[in-house]
Amino acid sequence: MRSNQPQTIYLSEYQVPAYLVDHVDLRFELFEEGARVHSTLSVRRNPDSRAASAPLELDGDSLRLESVALDGAELSAADYEDRGDQLVIASVPEQFELSVVTWIEPQNNTRLEGLYKSSGMFCTQCEAEGFRCITFFPDRPDVMARFRTRIEADKASYPVLLSNGNDVDRGELEGGRHFVTWEDPFPKPCYLFALVAGDLVEKRDTFRTCSGRDIDLRMYVEPRNAEKCDHAMDSLKRSMSWDEEVYGREYDLDIFMIVAVDDFNMGAMENKGLNIFNSSCVLASQDTATDAAFQRIEAIVAHEYFHNWSGNRVTCRDWFQLSLKEGFTVFRDSQFSADMGSPTVKRIEDVTLLRTAQFAEDAGPMAHPVRPASYMEISNFYTLTIYEKGAEVVRMIHNLLGPEMFRKGSDLYFERHDGQAVTTDDFVRAMEDASGRDLTQFRLWYEQAGTPVLNVSDEFDAEQGVYRLNIAQHIPDTPGQSNKKPQHIPFALGLLGSRGEPLPLKLEAGEENAPAERVLELTEASHTFEFHGIGERPVPSLLRHFSAPVRVNYPWSREQLLFLMSHDPDGFNRWDAGQRLAVDVIQSLVGAPKDAAVEPRLVTSYRHLICDSSLDQALVAKMLQLPSEAYLIELADNADAPAIHRARERVLKHLAISLRDELVACYRRNLESGDYEITPEAIARRSLRNTALAWLLVINDEEGRELAVRQFRSADNMTDRMGALRALVNSDYEEDRNLALEEFYQQFREDPQVIEQWFSVQAASDRAGQLPQIHALLEHPAFDWKNPNKVRSVVGAFAGQNLSAFHNPDGSGYDFLAEQVCRLDDSNPQIAARLVTPLTRWRKFAPEYSEQMKAALERIRDKDGLSRDVYEVVHKSLA
Ligand code: ARG
Ligand code: ZN
Repeated sequence: MRSNQPQTIYLSEYQVPAYLVDHVDLRFELFEEGARVHSTLSVRRNPDSRAASAPLELDGDSLRLESVALDGAELSAADYEDRGDQLVIASVPEQFELSVVTWIEPQNNTRLEGLYKSSGMFCTQCEAEGFRCITFFPDRPDVMARFRTRIEADKASYPVLLSNGNDVDRGELEGGRHFVTWEDPFPKPCYLFALVAGDLVEKRDTFRTCSGRDIDLRMYVEPRNAEKCDHAMDSLKRSMSWDEEVYGREYDLDIFMIVAVDDFNMGAMENKGLNIFNSSCVLASQDTATDAAFQRIEAIVAHEYFHNWSGNRVTCRDWFQLSLKEGFTVFRDSQFSADMGSPTVKRIEDVTLLRTAQFAEDAGPMAHPVRPASYMEISNFYTLTIYEKGAEVVRMIHNLLGPEMFRKGSDLYFERHDGQAVTTDDFVRAMEDASGRDLTQFRLWYEQAGTPVLNVSDEFDAEQGVYRLNIAQHIPDTPGQSNKKPQHIPFALGLLGSRGEPLPLKLEAGEENAPAERVLELTEASHTFEFHGIGERPVPSLLRHFSAPVRVNYPWSREQLLFLMSHDPDGFNRWDAGQRLAVDVIQSLVGAPKDAAVEPRLVTSYRHLICDSSLDQALVAKMLQLPSEAYLIELADNADAPAIHRARERVLKHLAISLRDELVACYRRNLESGDYEITPEAIARRSLRNTALAWLLVINDEEGRELAVRQFRSADNMTDRMGALRALVNSDYEEDRNLALEEFYQQFREDPQVIEQWFSVQAASDRAGQLPQIHALLEHPAFDWKNPNKVRSVVGAFAGQNLSAFHNPDGSGYDFLAEQVCRLDDSNPQIAARLVTPLTRWRKFAPEYSEQMKAALERIRDKDGLSRDVYEVVHKSLA
């Protein structure tokens, strides 16, 4: 709640901390009406700081200060200043012990930052700046301390008391209370501190490390979730051995703990030795979690575990360096997922997210570099750019150096910086030093925002047998950045002959043994490459495996795209050619007359995909997914979302009608015979038959309806149950839809994670999720404004996925979102700021939409006491 304008913080103003904290001793007294936090810090002046005799400034937020003592002597109010957001002591010795007692109210903490309560348990979230909501402290990642934490609470209500490191002491206290003391031997920034107290069941396992140490693995969940831990535990063990094999990283503590909590702003958090997860990102059973959820859980468990090295042992100097740990760790978890399943499918999924959402961010008012130069509220910078584009930047380094040099580079990075708080530049330097490569120009990827655009043109010189490829790059202006320099772009390509054969890529006329795929390195605004010994005009396969996060423009004919769909040896580009073709066909139908023809060759190629079971079925399952509305909007200028929705529906219906019999056959062919398993093959089978079902119901096919109802009733797993439910919800069979929704609810009403899926399947559907129905969902007894997952599953799914309803020309969708943002701003500003995202894209849309979107943003802007989080997003969007 603030009246004055939030401050902007600049990277260029970074200064080393004036004081260092070597040790922190914490004692928590937990009660129902609040918590008393006793903190004793061993502080010394930083020898590297030039600010001699600087006052001691400790960050604080929403704390009630009870007492301050310096070297054991209580200070009087005249000796310090409690500024609300800072505790300042003007004069302190070189080295001293500071004891501070504060009182906080976790039970009233609806922001879910710091110490709060979630379904009866105490838990914490300190990244980025939540520790200051617990006690006064230099809350910045370059202050690293050893923590000792004693937790005291009522034993009956909170039998489990956890913090980072090893439990070193425990005992009984008066009045039915007890305590446990934890000690973490590794110095860490306070954002990695964690505490949990609750009535939880413990699941145990062990992992033997490469050096033969046995690590105690423990999961803590509410008793009702005891049977939903196996998948996360298995994922954890796979992550631990993968990190040993691929990066040479062994776990360092004796215990590794995972806790599931229902109320959590993000997915999960890598607190040292005590990872805390959003329940929806860790709990799974065949009966309650879809394939997508199983895969997401495996990836997130791995992500948080990998942070133990890329994030905890080597951490960030300041929050501008966030991508140092997040970009690198996302890259690591995506390598891991690729190794655990289908690498091509994983690549397709990552690129889909990047191109749909990160490209949109990079083209919008919140665009920022992978290493931002400024921010108002750091919580707003846990973005797709920091995470996914950051991972792409690391992937490009991996591709430029090759796997062996990259491993040498990561070894050097971990060895050189172990125990330090460092910068993205330190990471790049380690890669340079290990490999001998110069990455000077490459560093622009960290500094310049915006998605580079590559305009590619070609000519074939039949006489000389030369194929020329011109590639020009430019990087669009973004807020505060224009006239950007060309970046260093690895561009993988191949050329195909008329029978689909890969051609040798001879950059010199007489070159022998030329490879069929090359990675060209673009460093200038424009390059022309000549390929020799080419007998006929080839079909270019450009930016294979999406070798750089860029947009490629090339005037592909539909003929060429169809050719690449069936011949490109790069699976990713096969898929991409199909996407480009589908995009082209849908775009050509936006605003076209009702009877405009749908490209017949699209039907032929999809028929081939559906019927040829010799094709890689996992890839086929992906190729059958039409480009999403969100992606089509991202590609459009002056977007008309309802018109795009209609054009896409028209193509979908045309495909379904034309391929009706093939879809039924595909459904039957992919029916499950054996037990449920989560292999790429089984996932592909389920995906194929659920796609077939969805398409059949889009055209109100009677047999499809019967299949869907039967599958819904008889499914032995959530993927199939949800696949059938989604198909029914998105059909015109209103009675079946309502029946299935009701049945589903009755079956799973006790399971919050399943009810979240139940909310979002409705909110994301243009049939079941029009505004009056959305309002009804918000009134539903299972809905809870205090639970971020519920808010995301209704409000987020409506505004982010139900695009034709959200962009209702009457503006009601925008009004609705503005109202919900304002409502949430007081209780949970982080979540409120995230929800604004769809409105920030207002400039993308045709004037009849964009003007109303802008007006909705202005209404949010004018709310009294706007949080810093929402203030930053709204003001930057309107600027
Ligand atoms: N570091 C966490 C991760 O693994 C996310 C932290 C969330 N931070 C926040 N400010 N909500 O990606
Ligand atoms: Zn992370």
